[in-house]
Amino acid sequence: MTTTPHRLYIETVGCQMNVLDSEMVIASLRRHGYQPVDSVEQADTILFNTCSVRQHAEDKIYSALGQLRRHKQRCPEKIIGVLGCMAQKDQRLIFERAPYVDLVVGPGQLQQTAELIERARAGGGRQLAVSLGRRDGPREQVRRSHETFDPLRDPAMRPTPFQAYLRIQIGCDKFCTYCVVPMTRGPEQGRPPEDILAEARLLADQGCKEITLLGQTVNSYRYHSGGRTTRLADLLVALHDIAGIQRLKFVTNYPKHMTAELLQAVRGLPRCSHYLHVPLQSGSNRILQDMKRGYTVEDYRETMARIREFLPDAAVSSDFIVGFCGETEDDFQQSVQMVRECRFKNSFIFKYSERPGTKAAELLPDDVPEEVKRRRNQELLALQDAISEEDNQRFLGRTVDVLVEGPSRAAEKRGDAGDVLQLTGRTMCDRIAVFPGTRRLVGEILPVTICDCTAHTLIGEAMTKHAGPPLVGLDPSLPPARKARP
Ligand code: SAH
Ligand code: SF4
Ligand code: F3S
Repeated sequence: MTTTPHRLYIETVGCQMNVLDSEMVIASLRRHGYQPVDSVEQADTILFNTCSVRQHAEDKIYSALGQLRRHKQRCPEKIIGVLGCMAQKDQRLIFERAPYVDLVVGPGQLQQTAELIERARAGGGRQLAVSLGRRDGPREQVRRSHETFDPLRDPAMRPTPFQAYLRIQIGCDKFCTYCVVPMTRGPEQGRPPEDILAEARLLADQGCKEITLLGQTVNSYRYHSGGRTTRLADLLVALHDIAGIQRLKFVTNYPKHMTAELLQAVRGLPRCSHYLHVPLQSGSNRILQDMKRGYTVEDYRETMARIREFLPDAAVSSDFIVGFCGETEDDFQQSVQMVRECRFKNSFIFKYSERPGTKAAELLPDDVPEEVKRRRNQELLALQDAISEEDNQRFLGRTVDVLVEGPSRAAEKRGDAGDVLQLTGRTMCDRIAVFPGTRRLVGEILPVTICDCTAHTLIGEAMTKHAGPPLVGLDPSLPPARKARP
């Protein structure tokens, strides 16, 4: 007897953790005979991997679900599932708002997805699988309910087969007053170093050249066992020797934990990237305190000075929230000042979005009007863009090593099919570079000479190994769109 494979459509929003989670879910479902498809019409199983960090991310999902109402009426046999952080946060509320949803699965239960789908398909009714709330049991039990199932890696399911995320830390214990992540992802827990190393070896065997270690506060990674504590610096040293791995990155860093020991380790490891994402969030001490970030602007300056001391060429990037509760024009100008002073490679700038269940929502009024938030967002972004562009100009005439990721977005949009097309890749410091080349170069690390730039893109020409003329023939004036964040 032959069975036709199930057809899976999955949409992912949110941070790198979610991209990784979706890779795992697809890998697991493929083993259960599912085939990924490109549209809800073709699919018999429709999944959304969701994010709750800002209201906008949730609105997007509820609106996508709303659009499926009719579709589900027409095709009631199709399974619709909501996975990830919004599943953990809203739980049964999702069934109330969209009664035709069949399953709601939190980030800690994703390994059960195949089974839950089967139960729903077999007429078992709505399936809900979520982790314990932070106060719903003893810490150990809560912790375990948030564990993830990372070893299932499938190169075909990654954005590129030669780049991979590797989770080293689950959850967060910082409880910044604005943030839902400690609720949706649970307590901070470092994964055992031997599991991380085994997974990295597996990735290397699959042809992976670049690994990005993931954690909400990745530089606070610690694992204690048998009287020994392993920290991020120790992990980097161990991972560095795995044959085939040519680039190691790690995100996101918590400013207070950017120790000299870690920076020294990075300096001593040539395959470790000098790109450091170290979100400041605000340049005002009063706001940082209300955010409960645990550091002052002066502390952050010290962190920056330490980074520059150990890694003078480091590319540091940041996140900012504008319009946080009570943010005055003066507070905001202090953020402007810090962007000017720190000269970040780039910054992700977000308008404050009140999140139910957080301390800020409970205690601090969301009192900055939307149009003020918007204006501050634009002003800070314009300044950051001007700085990014100025700094990119330093690369004109220089040759940088680029890991080629594939056709640029512009080339894809134009549907370029010829031999030579615009390719995109990243430098060791995470800068985007575009240049003309052939598809055969995808996955290679190549020297590219930079001849032009925008705020977010270096534009160049690849140096061929046999020193022939550079590959030309394309208009490199259309850089890919900015890297998106949730
Ligand atoms: N763990 C990371 C970031 C996780 S969320 C860190 O601590 O840096 C990614 C970014 O979203 C945060 O850095 C912050 O800038 C932003 N963010 C988080 N909660 C938000 C909220 N309620 N409103 C607006 N932006 C928020
Ligand atoms: Fe959220 Fe703060 Fe944890 Fe980052 S460190 S995930 S902003 S609580
Ligand atoms: Fe990431 Fe959004 Fe969850 S930022 S951890 S997917 S709330």
